[in-house]
Amino acid sequence: MTVAAAREPALPSTTPILTDEQITAFERDGFLAIPRLVDADEVARLRLVLERLFAERAGRERGAHFDLSAVDVDGKAEGLPQILEPSKLAPELAHGRFHEHARAASLQLLGGPADELGRGGDHAILKPARHGAATPWHQDEAYWPVPMQDARSCSTWLALQEATVDNGCMWFVPGSHRLGVLMHQPIGGDPRVHGLETLVADTRAAVPVPLPAGGAVIHHVRTLHYAGPNRTGVQRYAYIVGFWRPGVPRTTPRDMPWLEAQNAASSTRVAP
Ligand code: NI
Repeated sequence: MTVAAAREPALPSTTPILTDEQITAFERDGFLAIPRLVDADEVARLRLVLERLFAERAGRERGAHFDLSAVDVDGKAEGLPQILEPSKLAPELAHGRFHEHARAASLQLLGGPADELGRGGDHAILKPARHGAATPWHQDEAYWPVPMQDARSCSTWLALQEATVDNGCMWFVPGSHRLGVLMHQPIGGDPRVHGLETLVADTRAAVPVPLPAGGAVIHHVRTLHYAGPNRTGVQRYAYIVGFWRPGVPRTTPRDMPWLEAQNAASSTRVAP
């Protein structure tokens, strides 16, 4: 695989890009839609790289590329292919306006000094045309083996084409970031599946967040979210990056039995 040479990292952006009203909406709802976070050039640049990585099944041999939605078997059509940390495979992904703007917005939403804001992981999700699977309801913190008492983390989800209800845009339950972490399980109750779901969430108040290409939605690590299946003929790509602030570690471990039970096929491919 060809990996483009890494450029020097851009200086951390601290220029505010959100209004007070947007910050208030995030604090109230646990998510914030931004109709235009980056321009068409940045969308095209990121999309080209990610299309190539998905086509090459990059990262699969080390467990970083797998089917999120079902038992991941070599040779089987994937319902929800995902690549963890694609910027390690293609460093140019992390250099550009998407990461700069996501960082600037996250800094405003999470508060605190700029030099304490850490970049979490990035990942990319493809919902294939016609058969892309739904991403069931979950909270991202359910994936974290070492939770903090006071979660201060958010993810910025960028639409790399128009995201619609029909092709699998994100849905959120407003205010659910104030819940604790709910009980989760591997999707379908199958411990071989990487993705998690919660079956105990009240999602009656859920709202969809359709976006144009270059639009983004930022959500808190505890906000309940879902994305529907892709029923269209268009491939749906999303690129996500997280940012976090240091929190207070829990003094007692939290019971997360769904992580202990999990034995995803992708993990058996992780090189020692
Ligand atoms: Ni999620």
